[in-house]
Amino acid sequence: MRQFDEKSITQAVIGRLSECGDPRFKSIMTSLITHLHDFVREVKLTEPEWLAAIQFLTGAGQRARKSARSYWFRSIRPTFHPVPTDGPVGRMLRKMGRHPYRPGHIHMIVSAAGHLPVTTHLFVAGSQYLDSDAVFGMKESLVAQFDRHPPGVGPNGARMDTPFYTVN
Ligand SMILES: [Fe+2]
Repeated sequence: MRQFDEKSITQAVIGRLSECGDPRFKSIMTSLITHLHDFVREVKLTEPEWLAAIQFLTGAGQRARKSARSYWFRSIRPTFHPVPTDGPVGRMLRKMGRHPYRPGHIHMIVSAAGHLPVTTHLFVAGSQYLDSDAVFGMKESLVAQFDRHPPGVGPNGARMDTPFYTVN
């Protein structure tokens, strides 16, 4: 299952404990996940509150320019990578028998005067770990095709001396 909603994600996360070899840890984590998810649903955790809690995991540069009804930014085409594993999160993942990888993705916050900001990801189609994102952030609707182009003129009119990708 690749699509989760507020309810189904709890069982999906618990299901990922199936490889955990420590019954006591599995029991504790199952209860923790159940209560934590219930808590998040009960208090209706807001996006800013969530962002404040996970800011240390977020690190992607972006540059955006608004023009008419569209915008563009330039970035790398990211590949899969692990979340930090040298701290408590890494110990928890190892204990759960889970890998630490996230599929290739770009974080973005899009804002405009008079509109609520949108905080989201863009996932690279075909990236490894799309089906098992370590932090359960992947959604099918956020997967984008990156089309490869030979060196030439980029979407912003600039000369590109190396192959590049575009996403529409
Ligand atoms: Fe990330």
